[in-house]
Amino acid sequence: MNKNKFETNMELKDYTVRFNTLANKYKLNCSQSGTAVCTPMNGEVLGHFSEEYNDTLQQHVDLAKEAFAKWKVYPAPKRGEMMRQFGNAVREAKEDLSAMITLENGKVFQESMGEIQEVIDICDFAVGLSRQLYGLTMPSEREDHRMQEIWNPYGVVGVVSAFNFPAAVWSWNFAIAGVGGNVTVWKPSPKTPFISMMLKQIWDNTCEQNNLSWAKDVLRLYLGSNSQAVALCTHKDVRVVSLTGSSAMGEKLGPIVTKRFGKLIMELGGNNAMIVTPEANLKLALKSILFSAVGTAGQRCTTLRRLIVHNSIKDDLVEKLAKAYKTINYGDPFDSEVLLGPMISKESVDKMQDVLETCKANGHTVHGGERISETYAEPSIVELKHNDDITKTETFAPILYVIGYDDLDEAINIQNDVPQGLSSCIFTDNLKEAERFVGANGSDCGIVNVNIGPSGAEIGGAFGGEKATGGGRESGSDAWKQYMKRSTVTINYGDDLPLAQGVKFDV
Ligand code: UN1
Repeated sequence: MNKNKFETNMELKDYTVRFNTLANKYKLNCSQSGTAVCTPMNGEVLGHFSEEYNDTLQQHVDLAKEAFAKWKVYPAPKRGEMMRQFGNAVREAKEDLSAMITLENGKVFQESMGEIQEVIDICDFAVGLSRQLYGLTMPSEREDHRMQEIWNPYGVVGVVSAFNFPAAVWSWNFAIAGVGGNVTVWKPSPKTPFISMMLKQIWDNTCEQNNLSWAKDVLRLYLGSNSQAVALCTHKDVRVVSLTGSSAMGEKLGPIVTKRFGKLIMELGGNNAMIVTPEANLKLALKSILFSAVGTAGQRCTTLRRLIVHNSIKDDLVEKLAKAYKTINYGDPFDSEVLLGPMISKESVDKMQDVLETCKANGHTVHGGERISETYAEPSIVELKHNDDITKTETFAPILYVIGYDDLDEAINIQNDVPQGLSSCIFTDNLKEAERFVGANGSDCGIVNVNIGPSGAEIGGAFGGEKATGGGRESGSDAWKQYMKRSTVTINYGDDLPLAQGVKFDV
């Protein structure tokens, strides 16, 4: 690893200066009391925020419901127009917003810019969607009758978002639910409250500029941690809850929502795999592994965690990978040559170290993975010497398990044999192998790629996964339907009352 970037820079950085400039510019309320937010780069305290409680949630929900009464009848293309202006304002503030993400969660600046681009992209998508909330029309079996579907908004959508994509995942929900006529109460991660304050500020400005002060409450920010997430899930007027986080979190919070018959959209743990066959373009595969296993310090829900490689090419690929890992620069995530920033907390690095110790104790070969500082660690490759259930648990850290296989069926079985089912991919130039992977006997995940890594999805497709990933779909395609109530409408424009199925009931 290239240590220069780290040793010369890290202790000396004054991230608070940068933070304070942004906090002043966006008038953030980051008072001296409340919960402290530290930058993971060197532990400096950036600011504080106050957790809000049940009575405040009630106020948020009441205000959101008042806004909903107006927003739901404000024409959808006009809602789209608001989203267009909001997206443009985000475009203008792209560097500031990206800097805040890097300050709060340590993501390298390039990737933070990518995250904000994702916010912009989903706003653009939502603008078009605002004129395309189509319902089907179907023929009625009865004379002078017509059937159709009309999509109406649910009302208050609760969004619980995670530290690792503190803006993009929220925006998938807000923009799409919003053009559909819903209002959002957002509970961001306590590790990244300030990016949400900035986005809220930009939404409020957009409303002011349009003389639509009431529409500010289309987005309410409810700050806090676990107990606030529970409160949001429990509140009967929060009709839809979108949860992003670990499978363990979904297991706890999901049932609270379903018990009261709320609608649930879950985006949980990944544990994503790549199959590399002997017919793969290895250059492409190698490049893709580096981004998807090391990028974002292994903290994407789409991060590559399991590499399933044909035994005939495994040793060669591992050797090349281990070499390439050593060339990755780590250090200040604002430095454009740095590809690896810190992990979110000391605890995350502790956890990673524990898992690597267990791997060694279980007889596997570990490359890299050394702790560099409290929050920095080298990315690691674990060559499995035998099957090990440790690969079935997702550790939110840059640990890449390498597993050998002999035939494709075996590889697909290994890929599917985990509780989670978010993202997957195959590297092969063989059409038959590729088609097999995407078909009914192939990957059981929600995202199934060919010659592309498992991470870095575009917003145009529906994003989400199966099994312990929770089954939700967000962002593009027809994911909007999850935020909308489908009314099946049958209209009789005749003078008679024929019954369906030809039933006679003449009195
Ligand atoms: C997440 O990690 O929660 O596909 C979302 C990707 C990004 C989104 C990741 N577009 O990697």
